[in-house]
Amino acid sequence: MSYCLTDEQIMIRDMVREFSRKIVAVTAMKRDETKEFPSDNFEKMSELGLMGMMIPAEYGGAGTDTISYVLALSEIAYSCASTAVVMSVHNSIVCESIYRYGTEEQKKRILPSLVSGKSIGAFALTEPQAGSDPVSQKTSAVKDGDYYVLNGTKRFITTGKNAGLTIATANTDPSKKHKGISAFLVARGTPGFIVGKTEDKMGLRASDTTDLIFDNCRIHKKDLLGNEGDGFKIAMTALDCGRIGIAAQSVGVAQAALDAAVKYATEREQFGQLISKFQGLRWMAAEMATEIEAARQLMLSAAAMKDRGEKFTLQASMAKLFASEMVNRITGKALQMHGGYGFIKEYPVERFYRDARVFTIYEGTSEIQKVVISNHIFNDKRKT
Ligand code: CAA
Repeated sequence: MSYCLTDEQIMIRDMVREFSRKIVAVTAMKRDETKEFPSDNFEKMSELGLMGMMIPAEYGGAGTDTISYVLALSEIAYSCASTAVVMSVHNSIVCESIYRYGTEEQKKRILPSLVSGKSIGAFALTEPQAGSDPVSQKTSAVKDGDYYVLNGTKRFITTGKNAGLTIATANTDPSKKHKGISAFLVARGTPGFIVGKTEDKMGLRASDTTDLIFDNCRIHKKDLLGNEGDGFKIAMTALDCGRIGIAAQSVGVAQAALDAAVKYATEREQFGQLISKFQGLRWMAAEMATEIEAARQLMLSAAAMKDRGEKFTLQASMAKLFASEMVNRITGKALQMHGGYGFIKEYPVERFYRDARVFTIYEGTSEIQKVVISNHIFNDKRKT
């Protein structure tokens, strides 16, 4: 489906574009250096309704559709990919999962603080030995009266240190494989819930990525999300939406890289003329713009399917696969167009290149997306 944006979607995109380029962009380069978490961005973003975009107004959210959300997320990623990944996990994975699977009591208790930005959400599925294969996770949750006692270690958790609320998965019955995994709502400060090492990353440096350790951590049964054994389904459904978010991040960073390269090419002279006059470079820019637009269409098409209530697993994986591979090609070419200046930190393109690298890895590698897509093609597991 090709997209035709409504006046409201255009208004939201343009409002976020202005905010992002005026406010978020200003500190992005510095934060990449200092690794300072962009808390002040999130305060302002929550005032604009960007921290609970798809959550209905009755829980304090903005109640927008997914198309508006991905347009907004792309605009934030254009200026600061670190801010965008936190926004993405918070909105598409954490808020959405609580809204979809939470009880009325959980929604009323937890969503208002998330959508107001007072508390930021994290999602803890991955473990040291369970990345692409989350069913092999080892974290255990053993029932003890009204509580579950959690033990284990989660790895590579976006916002692990700064989150107020984490959705964590753990085994309540390992003999049942994926049907024995459950999901829990874990508040910061819960005894036995410990933030472990913070990773030193090549990109997305202002977003913290940490280990989370459960050491006899007692979680009350009122904080079980869904039913016992629903954890894998909750995670997979959340990742469907999360993967459209990674496509949106990819489109935003790619557009920023192309715009930076065009700006450079229209200022830089070599051989007596602007380098933007050379056909080799112009054709490179033409191909880059076409690839970005193709990714944008896939992103919008998957978002539109979600908004229509259709199953969109296949389209989310296609959008994530194409867009994340695309942004790695585009940032590489944009850096090349800068020549030697692309390799130094004075220009933002080297940050775009580093930030984009993880997009083909997190929330399911490109290879995992191909597993999902090929399973649909060959009808091995699910149909679209
Ligand atoms: N929606 C709903 N249910 C789904 C689903 C989906 N998209 N995908 C699978 N399921 C259900 C299936 O219907 C099946 O349920 P039943 O047994 O009841 O029929 C069950 O889950 C098992 O399905 P599969 O047999 O297809 O599962 P699998 O073990 O073969 O795994 C996989 C499939 C696609 C490889 C999956 O394991 C996967 O996506 N792996 C990658 C994990 C990933 O993306 N990790 C990133 C973590 S988050 C992150 O990156 C960092 C961060 O901070 C956000």
